[in-house]
Amino acid sequence: VRAVLEDTSLRTSTGTEFTLRRGDRVALFPHLSVQMNPEIHEEPHKFKYDRFVNPDGTRKDFYRNGKKLKFVSMPWGAGVSTCPGRFFASAEMKLFVFLMLSHFDLELVDEEEEIPAIDISRWGFGTMQPVRDVRFRHRPRQDDVVTAC
Ligand code: HEM
Repeated sequence: VRAVLEDTSLRTSTGTEFTLRRGDRVALFPHLSVQMNPEIHEEPHKFKYDRFVNPDGTRKDFYRNGKKLKFVSMPWGAGVSTCPGRFFASAEMKLFVFLMLSHFDLELVDEEEEIPAIDISRWGFGTMQPVRDVRFRHRPRQDDVVTAC
């Protein structure tokens, strides 16, 4: 959300022009316009671990209407107000997954159950959440050296 400090206009990549008046407030929503846009990202709701890399490991370019995009995913915002906590938050998430997988054996209660959709009422509040819980069993790993010590 941004406050408009002087009269100006804003042209989007699709050519629409918005007239902004001093005092207006503008809310841009990159989650839908960029991250979840199927014109930019193929099957945006699907988890693809290699979505952002080419087969040779180099960074993949993304286009819209033939134009190469500068920002293809903005989970941390962009520009001067990019999230300063992003490295900490990424490290926390990776650490959580690593600790769960290294200390516990995990098993879905219902393997046939469909993957739940994301809860769109939570857009904008950090990482996305599913519309319902996914039940799983967990028990300390027998070969867990750290827990055994
Ligand atoms: C998954 C976790 C997180 C997500 C998705 C996230 C996302 C964002 C986004 C999108 C912005 C930009 C907002 C804007 O430009 O209007 C932002 C700003 C900010 N974030 Fe995060 N953030 C996360 C975690 C954190 C953590 C852990 C911290 C602090 C330890 C933090 C501190 C901040 C601060 C201080 C700003 C304002 C930066 C500024 O305006 O200059 N965030 N965050």
